[in-house]
This record gives sequence, C-alpha cells and structure tokens, in this order.
Amino acid sequence: MKILVAYFSHKGMNYVDGKIIPLTVGNTEIIAKKIAEFTDGDLFEIRTVEPYPYDYKECVKTAVSELKADARPALADTVDVTPYEVVVLGYPNWCGTTPMPVKTFLSGADLSGKILIPFCSNEGSGMGVSEKDIAKLCPDAILKKGISVHGKNFDETALKNRLKTILADE
Ligand SMILES: Cc1cc2nc3c(=O)[nH]c(=O)nc-3n(C[C@H](O)[C@H](O)[C@H](O)COP(=O)(O)O)c2cc1C
Repeated sequence: MKILVAYFSHKGMNYVDGKIIPLTVGNTEIIAKKIAEFTDGDLFEIRTVEPYPYDYKECVKTAVSELKADARPALADTVDVTPYEVVVLGYPNWCGTTPMPVKTFLSGADLSGKILIPFCSNEGSGMGVSEKDIAKLCPDAILKKGISVHGKNFDETALKNRLKTILADE
C-alpha cells in the first residue's frame, strides 16, 4: 500500500507540559517522521505561505482569529495524492480542532476512496472536534478513528501498534 504522511507542525514557542518552551522541531513533525519511517511512507509538510508567529501567545491569537473566520490560509506547496491509497494526516490540536492550513489541504485534495488516518498531537485536549471537521471536508474518504498522542512524550510502541492494526484491516 502506498502511504502518504502529510503533516502540519509549528516550530517556535509552544505549550508543553504546562510550560512555554521553544521547539526547534515541532512535536507533530517528529511523530510524522517516525510514522513515515515505519510505514515506508512519503512525507509531505503542509506549510503556509505566511508563517505563524514564533511567540506562543501571538500564534494562539492568529489561530483563534483564523478559526473564527473559518479561514483557509494559502499553502506554500501542493502534493498530488492520486498515487496514494492511504493518507496519514498529522497536526497539533489548535483550539480544539486542526490548524486551519490542514483544512486548506483537505479542501484541495481529492481523498475519495482513500483511507485517511488522522493523528493529533496535543497537550490534553485529545482530538477535540478535529475528526468531525475532517469528515465534513472529505465525506468520501474512508476515515479511520483518529490517534491522539501527547506531543512531547508520545508512546511510540502504542502508536506503531495502532497503525499496524488499522492497516492490517485493509
Ligand atoms: C495556537 C495553539 C493552540 C493550541 N491549542 C491547544 C488545545 O486547544 N489543546 C491542547 O491540548 N493543546 C493545544 N496546543 C498545544 C499543541 O497542540 C501541542 O503542544 C502540540 O504537540 C504541538 O505540536 P507541534 O509542535 O507539531 O506544533 C496549542 C498550541 C498552539 C500553538
């Protein structure tokens, strides 16, 4: 099965274990790279034309206003999803759902008939309403139950096992 691991991740100050700390590589990026490694998948980073603020509070401000506006921030790159049977979609929980660039990605990709496995790195809110939002944007994808992971201290073995189980069913 040809697998695409598409992810959005934010480098900069972030909320981790109750503290605001700098992340030179985002949590979701680290996890996405592991998944690509053990699934032999191709990686695609969902990047915006306008970068998000480095500062955590500023980034939250931007995220909240984009969420309220149901914005679709422009992406810097595209990927042709046609050859892939499975798309693993990674993102951090931002204000209870996906960051809006993930919605831009989903709005622009035809995922009909493809297996879509979301994973969401977070600090305790789990998947939030992200799965519902994803289902609305790509109703014809075969949407699997999402995988919630703690951003910094994710359990790699549990993650591998969840993915193996999902993929073995196909
Ligand atoms: C703008 C913003 C909003 C966030 N909102 C939430 C939230 O609602 N719930 C939560 O558990 N974590 C929230 N977080 C924390 C991130 O989801 C978490 O640190 C994640 O692992 C970061 O992944 P990244 O480094 O790949 O961006 C938020 C972080 C940012 C920057």
